Amino acid sequence: MNGSSRGRTGVVADLSIAEIKEAYEGGEITGIWEERLIPERERSFLERCLKGLGELPTGLDVGGGIGLHALLLHERVPFVVHLDYSWTMCSYVGHTRALPTVQGNALRLPFTSGSFDVVMTYGVSTFVRNDDWRIQTVEEMMRVTRLGGFILISTANGRSLHVPPRRTQRLHTVDAEDIRMFVQRGLQHVRTAYGEAAPHFLFRTAWGRPFAQVLDATLGRSALFATQKAVVLQKLYPSDR
Ligand SMILES: C[S@@+](CC[C@H](N)C(=O)[O-])C[C@H]1O[C@@H](n2cnc3c(N)ncnc32)[C@H](O)[C@@H]1O
Repeated sequence: MNGSSRGRTGVVADLSIAEIKEAYEGGEITGIWEERLIPERERSFLERCLKGLGELPTGLDVGGGIGLHALLLHERVPFVVHLDYSWTMCSYVGHTRALPTVQGNALRLPFTSGSFDVVMTYGVSTFVRNDDWRIQTVEEMMRVTRLGGFILISTANGRSLHVPPRRTQRLHTVDAEDIRMFVQRGLQHVRTAYGEAAPHFLFRTAWGRPFAQVLDATLGRSALFATQKAVVLQKLYPSDR
């Protein structure tokens, strides 16, 4: 397996695992991601994804980057582990988030089977770039989830009018075929959630913020307008399949 196999889109995935690592190392990368993510926006999306899932004592964020999602998950889940391939990201999380962080690969998660009640991933390159990697990432996430536990996968929303076509071609977005693949592997589709309709810059200005919040709360629930999409899946007991 490598980073150059041809995806379903016909686009050759252009990053090797070493290049992915390279792309996420370096002091400036954490600042870029801090700028890019708006905590309240991420919180409200995560809350909608996790609504009604019951008690979740343990969680894992795979490819957790600057640790914002892991931190928000921790508001709901008592014990959360952050994992990333990048030392820069892990060391940043270790210093700023007071969460356990593990440097590791989504393709070979360094945890025993059934360790977590909820395992999530947001926009991780091994998930979005390459078909083989995507399947292996899902299998690894499934393996470390306990029976009856949940998996949350978030990517850009390929059906959105606002996601530029070029980005949609280069980045795989979760689609119906993926969901069929998840179901074949023993996962049950719990829900699909959409979020983020307002342009990012509106959140950065005092006048734009209330307007952006209304856009997110209305159009951000729609498959056509939201730029972000997440699927929530449950790992079934073998007897329930
Ligand atoms: C686009 S960033 C997203 C970060 C975070 N999930 C978010 O939404 O803000 C992708 C992250 O995935 C990590 N990553 C990419 N491939 C990985 C792999 N195979 N195993 C673990 N982490 C990986 C990168 O180091 C980077 O921090």
